[in-house]
Amino acid sequence: VEDSLCVRRIRDDELASLLELHTHLNPVDDPLPGKEQLEQTWKEIQSDPRLRCFVAVQGGRIVGSCMLIIIPNLTRGARPYGLIENVVTHREYRRRGVGTRLMQHALQVAWDQKCYKVMLLTSSPQEGVLDFYEKVGFVQGVKTGLVAYPKGAV
Ligand SMILES: CC(C)(COP(=O)(O)OP(=O)(O)OC[C@H]1O[C@@H](n2cnc3c(N)ncnc32)[C@H](O)[C@@H]1OP(=O)(O)O)[C@@H](O)C(=O)NCCC(=O)NCCS
Repeated sequence: VEDSLCVRRIRDDELASLLELHTHLNPVDDPLPGKEQLEQTWKEIQSDPRLRCFVAVQGGRIVGSCMLIIIPNLTRGARPYGLIENVVTHREYRRRGVGTRLMQHALQVAWDQKCYKVMLLTSSPQEGVLDFYEKVGFVQGVKTGLVAYPKGAV
């Protein structure tokens, strides 16, 4: 069906759509660098086998995205662990299961890659975000998340 939702890896030629979607993630964000540096970073991301950017596509439009990072590891039987970042659904497509499908897909890839855990941090003030993550299997309270920032940053 043309209109059905699918989740897949992002293609190299979809950077502009992803950047547009990122404006739905944070109302304010730091300015992006110039085209050349941006494309260099995109190339780096797309050529790194440990980085997977997934998109949810509906009716030919990218309506959601998230990034899964899989980190090789020498403990836990040398099983890797995963990190999920930049989870976003287009404003007009929220509360329709898009985010859930994205997270289920990313987690399945992580388990297929034998990850022993997947981590995620959120400071989203949006109501329902913690429910959203708990519904797809993340648990609060088993670990404490800490973050360091470079001097001068908020
Ligand atoms: C958080 C976000 C990714 C959720 O995406 P989504 O596609 O709307 O999520 P789903 O439709 O799969 O929601 C699944 C469940 O999560 C909960 N949920 C999601 N958004 C919610 C909201 N705004 N209020 C209350 N519950 C919410 C509900 O339980 C929902 O199930 P229901 O619709 O049957 O009640 C989306 O709201 C978003 O992009 N927010 C802005 C960016 C952001 O905060 N990202 C997270 C950064 S860590």
